[in-house]
Amino acid sequence: MTASSTKPLLNVLAREKTPLPPWWLMRQAGRYLPEYRAVRNRIGSFLELCLSPVLAAELTMQPVRRYGMDAAILFSDILILPYALGQALEYRDGTGPVLEALAGPGDLGRLNAVDVLSRLAPVLETVERVRGMLGPRTALIGFAGAPWTVATYMVEGGTSRDFHRVKSWAYGDPLGFARLMEMLTEATGELLAAQVAAGAEAVQLFDSWAGVLPETYFVRWVIRPTARIVAFLKDRYPRCPVIGFPRAAGVLYERYVTETGVDAVGLDPTVPLGFAVARLGGRAVLQGNLDPVLLLVGGSSLEAAVVEMRHSFAATPWIFNLGHGVLPETPVENVATLARLLAAPEPG
Ligand code: CP3
Repeated sequence: MTASSTKPLLNVLAREKTPLPPWWLMRQAGRYLPEYRAVRNRIGSFLELCLSPVLAAELTMQPVRRYGMDAAILFSDILILPYALGQALEYRDGTGPVLEALAGPGDLGRLNAVDVLSRLAPVLETVERVRGMLGPRTALIGFAGAPWTVATYMVEGGTSRDFHRVKSWAYGDPLGFARLMEMLTEATGELLAAQVAAGAEAVQLFDSWAGVLPETYFVRWVIRPTARIVAFLKDRYPRCPVIGFPRAAGVLYERYVTETGVDAVGLDPTVPLGFAVARLGGRAVLQGNLDPVLLLVGGSSLEAAVVEMRHSFAATPWIFNLGHGVLPETPVENVATLARLLAAPEPG
């Protein structure tokens, strides 16, 4: 991959050295920002926000204007895809997303993959708008949920504790479950390709629940669909970097990196920095992995963790990020402190 662009994030994704680590934060647009809460309170429905290109573009830009991250990430949600496939979806304050759960293959008839992209036209328009708003140093990241994680929400009907519904289906009826996963794999590839066509310069696949599967099923439902999506995207857009985030995959991070073809890998906060550099860094650009609670706590604990990360990752292509999303309770001034720590020429 050849980047040498004005955008540090794209240069690091092409494994070029940059004077400072480029950075962005998962869930950098969101409830910790007063300017987000102001828009959110005015509109009321989170889904409506995701489908309003002018507002979604504005929300995408909010954290970048305040802190100057090296990337903007499209303001949308991974569950916009099940919604576009025809599954009823609602976001409830306090409980999170609620979907009309799929009980088995008999419910697949409720989904309609035809024209999914035209139903997602507002999201693609948001991408186009943001590209026109960004400065020359800031990259635009598109994203989607990985099929396994999206399937967990579709089958559980929301966030789950033990995933027994989706696992029972996946382990007990692999052929029926494969039909759902096929549909998601194809639609996710198309959605990401459309985001790249609209102006996204890199894409991230969020597999937030990758870490709940035993190895056999991790290979089948995390690695294989991800590898297919990466191959599909590389065929259409050979130069577009793909970042995979198989959260909580533990030692399976290694197989994920060698077998999916992702260019970069998002590390959750439990991945030891030495393991990441020694076992993953040769194959993929590393991204992560500050514990979001350290950003919330701030002070000397935050500073020590950032210094340790900058030392540990100094010799490897690395993008600073959190190991999971910004927590809504995070004080805005701690993010400003983080920006200063990352801009210091010496790690400290
Ligand atoms: O990172 C960004 O700033 C871009 C936008 C983005 C959102 N969600 C906006 C959002 C991204 C990349 C996501 C990804 C996402 N969504 C994931 C993967 C990452 C992860 O956190 O594991 C998942 C699992 C979802 C599904 C989802 N969306 C849940 C479980 C919830 C409810 C919990 C919560 O934190 O509110 C959402 C809602 C959501 N997605 C909000 C935002 C800004 C909050 C909506 C509100 O204002 O109430």
